[in-house]
Amino acid sequence: MCGIMGYTGGGAAAKIVYDGLKRLEYRGYDSAGISVLCGNEIKTVKRLGRVSALGGLLGKMHGGTGIGHTRWATHGKPSDENAHPHNAGVFSIVHNGIIENYSQLKAEYFSDENFLSDTDSEVIAKLLDKFYDGDLTSALARVCGLLRGSYAIAVMCAKSDGFAVAKRGSSVVIGYGENENFAASDLPALAGLCKNVAVLNDGDIALLTANGVAIFDENLQGVIREIVPNPATPADLELNGNPHYMLKEIREVPAAIERTRLSYAYVESSVKKAMEGVDRVIITGCGTAYNSGLAAKRYIESFARIPAEAEIAGEFRYKNPVITPNTAVIAVSQSGETADTVEAAELALSLGAKVIAVTNSPYSRLTRCADVVVPVEAGCEICVAATKSYSGQVTALYMIARTLAGSSVQSSAEIIAPFPALCAQITESEDIDGLADMCARSYGTYFLGRDIDYAVAQEGSLKLKEISYVPSEGYPAGELKHGTLALIDIRTVSVFIITGKSLAGKCANAVEQVLSRKGKAAVITNVAEVAERFKGRAYVVEIPSCDEWLSPLVSSVVLQLLAYKTALLLDRDPDKPRNLAKSVTVE
Ligand code: AGP
Repeated sequence: MCGIMGYTGGGAAAKIVYDGLKRLEYRGYDSAGISVLCGNEIKTVKRLGRVSALGGLLGKMHGGTGIGHTRWATHGKPSDENAHPHNAGVFSIVHNGIIENYSQLKAEYFSDENFLSDTDSEVIAKLLDKFYDGDLTSALARVCGLLRGSYAIAVMCAKSDGFAVAKRGSSVVIGYGENENFAASDLPALAGLCKNVAVLNDGDIALLTANGVAIFDENLQGVIREIVPNPATPADLELNGNPHYMLKEIREVPAAIERTRLSYAYVESSVKKAMEGVDRVIITGCGTAYNSGLAAKRYIESFARIPAEAEIAGEFRYKNPVITPNTAVIAVSQSGETADTVEAAELALSLGAKVIAVTNSPYSRLTRCADVVVPVEAGCEICVAATKSYSGQVTALYMIARTLAGSSVQSSAEIIAPFPALCAQITESEDIDGLADMCARSYGTYFLGRDIDYAVAQEGSLKLKEISYVPSEGYPAGELKHGTLALIDIRTVSVFIITGKSLAGKCANAVEQVLSRKGKAAVITNVAEVAERFKGRAYVVEIPSCDEWLSPLVSSVVLQLLAYKTALLLDRDPDKPRNLAKSVTVE
């Protein structure tokens, strides 16, 4: 959701910031721009399109301090004018977040002035210019005091060395180098650049020069933030021979499951303690994270017999939820930065719930507010579509549910142990090219399943629509006849996931209903009788038999590959789908 990057030191700032922005491009790719302090003049380039559009424009930008931005448009269409940085007087700024009161600020302070962009961000540069009396930090503190909403801002001033950053809501990581320092929205930008990093708190302002970093709170009192080793490595960013990050990350599903299952042992006792006396569980998240919550609901209710609900975080936070002291809220988020999910977790905490974070990002906002953090060990995920992080989330949530049911961590880990190999089998062998072709040509694709297979159906549908733009819906197979069946005709494809023996017959009825309306059907199954029954009549994908509850780990890989292959057939970029960004840090 926009990426910002800043550098100050003896290196070529333009190139360092440019490379950092390329690594942050998964956060938004509508437009990009860079400002560099060249002597005591600020030079700025910005362009509609991807970061690479700046590549040929940096030749004359010589200087050791620079800031840059890659944008996911919120206010103002993607264009050269709306691209960041925004400049005013001696200032250049980049901003990630949303300034909710920007129109009021414009009306109050600049009613007679023209703005060059339609963004909510330009007013920050104008305000800095207005309040500047020779001290960058105090001007920035004064401006931040006026802003409502969320922001990570990097500011360069033609009259000061280095640059400053400020944050509230949106994240900023400081990178400590030798005679050079960095700031970025996320750790991948800093991989290989510095050994140590610190995460800023809300309200912090940091002043970075080549020689050091000074951090202040909102009252400009000096504060110390924990400095930790930089966990991001250049290897995280390699494609390792894969054509896209999505395929690379699907191939990393087995490792994500394996690491997550093993690391759970270190947090099991904290989960147990936090869950003592809990009589209701709410699992919340957005998109894929919410879909993993659908599986978790079934796990918790079936294993522990505790009522559980899966709630979309953006709904949960505004519905005045019923929370008692015995309610536990499990907030699931790959990035740990999704605004809706973090706000939902904070709301639950304020209402007295115990909050457990399930996240792939150890230094995120979510980890800093939760009572307990259960790590998803998927490793750095760059493709906008979540793949291995879903597998890690399902693994972690399964283990939490078993803890709630009183099972030992060893027994849970043993049940999961075969799954990395089963998933590896899928990623290397499953032939779904024909099905991808059917989906690519379809008018609409429906994903259907019952019980735990329904949870996977939702995720399969999200994946397909997100990266191929084929209209798609996930649905409980039993509900088909109550409405969706009206949409079925020869132009549609219905993909059934059938992994549980007990409901296989019922689900097979729904397949028949589709076939008898001339709809095309596919069946992804590990039930031999189902495979036999539909061979020749539907596209059958046989997957290995496995523990019924954990079948989402296997079937989701087939669906991820299906989405990937369909996207390629339609000539889409699977790593950077249109209109989207990976970390949605705004509402
Ligand atoms: C998944 O493929 C999507 N890109 C999206 O739905 C994502 O899962 C959602 O935005 C939540 O992100 P988070 O896990 O980082 O909170």
